[in-house]
Amino acid sequence: MSATIVDVSQPITDHEVNAIRRDFPALLESVNGEPLAYLDSAATAQRPHAVLDAERHFLEHHNAAVHRGAHTLAGLATEAYEDARSTVAAFVGAGPDEVVWTANATDALNLVAYGFANASHGRGGAAARRFALAPGDEIVVTEAEHHANLVPWQELAAVTGATLRFIPVNDSGVYSVGDAAAVLSSRTRIVALAHVSNVTGFVAPVAEIVALAHARGALVVLDACQSAPHRALDLPGLGVDFAAFSGHKMLGPTGIGVLYGRAELLDALPPFRTGGSMISTVTMTDADYLPAPQRFEAGTPPVSQAIALAEAVRYLQRIGLDRIERREELLAERMLVGLAGIPGIRTIGPGLGVPRAGLVSFDVDGVHGHDVGQYLDARGIAVRVGHHCAQPLHRRLGLISSTRASAYMYTTTDEVDRLLGSAHEVRRYFGAA
Ligand SMILES: Cc1ncc(COP(=O)(O)O)c(C=O)c1O
Repeated sequence: MSATIVDVSQPITDHEVNAIRRDFPALLESVNGEPLAYLDSAATAQRPHAVLDAERHFLEHHNAAVHRGAHTLAGLATEAYEDARSTVAAFVGAGPDEVVWTANATDALNLVAYGFANASHGRGGAAARRFALAPGDEIVVTEAEHHANLVPWQELAAVTGATLRFIPVNDSGVYSVGDAAAVLSSRTRIVALAHVSNVTGFVAPVAEIVALAHARGALVVLDACQSAPHRALDLPGLGVDFAAFSGHKMLGPTGIGVLYGRAELLDALPPFRTGGSMISTVTMTDADYLPAPQRFEAGTPPVSQAIALAEAVRYLQRIGLDRIERREELLAERMLVGLAGIPGIRTIGPGLGVPRAGLVSFDVDGVHGHDVGQYLDARGIAVRVGHHCAQPLHRRLGLISSTRASAYMYTTTDEVDRLLGSAHEVRRYFGAA
């Protein structure tokens, strides 16, 4: 991608998208004899040459275990690894000691939930008491969460006796600040919510919910999986206490995720995993832990993945997160208008004019989601079908599954139009129209 871009207030143009696409080898694939239309970036994004090359370059020239060994390569590897942490931290407005490397967002959310569980069992001393939960305490989640931001809180409630409460969604899968205010109470200790829903594309009123939660003494855990790749994020500015996102959804590798935590909280939270690399001294019966973030990074970490993720961040920054967000808004609007105009198709999520991310999930009356997915795949169009790891939300919307088309900065309007064209045909093909 050439560095000579452009008016940062404007969405990426079709012309620029064509140039961007040349950076992504996977987008040149053909599927079933058709050019691939990859509309599944909300599941995992494709990776540009710059990211693939960065990982390979590290492995070919500087590969070594980090934070160990006195040799030159180990020093270079450690430097690159910690530089990557600083780059990713700055990307979300945080300091390097506020970023913990994890395996993915799921791992990051579990790290927080298990930290609370360990504190509830007396681990972490006086400093960790603020995380201890007991019967009567409440953990609040929304009805629209990905299982990754629901099941760990179910477990935490089960082991502490705390109560899990839900912010309900309406028939579009959307909720308001008022809906949240009605559920939060002086017993609320944790509020866990997705910044952007992976099913509806709904953008949560995070700052307002943070204000409600903090006024009641609760901590806020943000699932930023579907926002960090697509919009500029200032996590300290938003006021959240913890946040999680995954490298593979933002042009980076699998096997790397990020937990952001306010420094003061990370320093007090008991670790989830223990072992090598996270201790200062160990005796046969006891151990002292390093400060955050190292205290949460037991074992050999995903070094080349962290370095490649930092390269992905630089790539996103070169294009501009605001421009990516604008572009995806336009694509979502095109999908929404097109799909909503097709008889027998019901779109899920906020309607036109309400902020939404670049994805649209829909139900095709009389055709099973997997048939829709196969029909589109036969035409080279890759979408996600199923419950998208959000069974409670689908149940609430009266659905077992849906079809989700998701865009990224490399998605063309032509790909969206191919989706719309095929969606027009699908009910007739299966005899449902
Ligand atoms: C909103 C949301 N949260 C959490 C996750 C879990 O991400 P990972 O599987 O990378 O841990 C996803 C992935 O689909 C997601 O979309």
